[in-house]
Amino acid sequence: MSITKPRSMILGTGRAVPEKVLTNHDLEKMVNTSDAWIKERTGIERRHVADEATQTSDLCTEAGRRAMEAAGLSGAQIDAVLVGTVTGDVRFPATACYVQERLGANNAAAFDLAAACTGFLYGLSLADCLLAAGKAKYVLVIGAEILTRIVDWSDRATCVLFGDGAGAAVVGPSDGRRGIIDTFMKSDGRLTHLLHMPGGGSKYPAQVAIDERLNYLRMEGREVFKYAVTAMGDASNLILERNQLTAGDINLLIPHQANLRIISATAKRVNVPMERVYVNVQEYGNTSAASIPIAMDEALRNGRLKEGDRALLVAFGGGFTWGSAIVQF
Ligand code: ACO
Repeated sequence: MSITKPRSMILGTGRAVPEKVLTNHDLEKMVNTSDAWIKERTGIERRHVADEATQTSDLCTEAGRRAMEAAGLSGAQIDAVLVGTVTGDVRFPATACYVQERLGANNAAAFDLAAACTGFLYGLSLADCLLAAGKAKYVLVIGAEILTRIVDWSDRATCVLFGDGAGAAVVGPSDGRRGIIDTFMKSDGRLTHLLHMPGGGSKYPAQVAIDERLNYLRMEGREVFKYAVTAMGDASNLILERNQLTAGDINLLIPHQANLRIISATAKRVNVPMERVYVNVQEYGNTSAASIPIAMDEALRNGRLKEGDRALLVAFGGGFTWGSAIVQF
């Protein structure tokens, strides 16, 4: 349901991206691909890759620390740490628990959300609900991935698409002017097989997964493309309509950065011109749960998003999961 009076707002954001860059030309030396093919089909030119010593919790901690600094909060004030990721440090405990310890958020509950590319938006929605229910005052929401660790580097259809990074936002009480206006979440478990990593869980434990090469991300690219465009368009239009807003009321559309063609098709379905769409997929590739918070932090820090602006965030990912949010800055 739409909520007219926001209960929560984004108090600060941060991001962390590994320094090491892998260009399309680097990939030409690894698989049978070309810079021209990758650019034309995806818009991606480079992606950032975590070095061996870096874990997902390291990226989360850096992004989270920056978001807390921007919000002017200390770790002890945080009531919940939510990490959207499918590439956590270990199977368990939750990566959020490592981050909690590193940030000194000792009064918080900490857990992960496995909603793939929609992980950050699911977290943002949950943070808004926790505030509305009076269960939390400050929630740190992070989206983070080291996808390059689960990519099959011999599969040209997938290895060119993904990158690593983290983005974070601190959610706190609305000041009445700014706020999370509404959020929307959806999933369709009938389509799990189109984008998944089969091995490493209870179905195919680690050793079986390695023996049978099931420990890699698998994707039916064309099918994913089709559903992504429809779901992201629908999630955007639904949330606009139920808040009596139109595309003209949106200053910046921040879509999940999977592929420039998916982004353009979504913008077209929502009727937002590309000048009002944030695009950085050329620099990072698809960073899954990290892509929206990285883009949002960039937009806030480079002036594309200003105070008074209204942003529409929309994502789609494995599950399938998808969702949207309208945020007044
Ligand atoms: N370099 C060169 N050729 C390639 C590559 C590559 N890296 N990958 C595939 N090809 C070839 C294929 O083998 C095929 O060759 P063929 O015609 O001889 O059989 C040809 O290119 C066309 O392949 P398609 O898969 O049909 O190419 P398509 O235009 O669909 O583009 C892509 C593939 C980029 C994966 C596209 O389907 C896509 O973007 N899908 C969405 C996937 C995505 O973004 N997933 C992320 C997770 S979900 C999300 O974040 C929204």
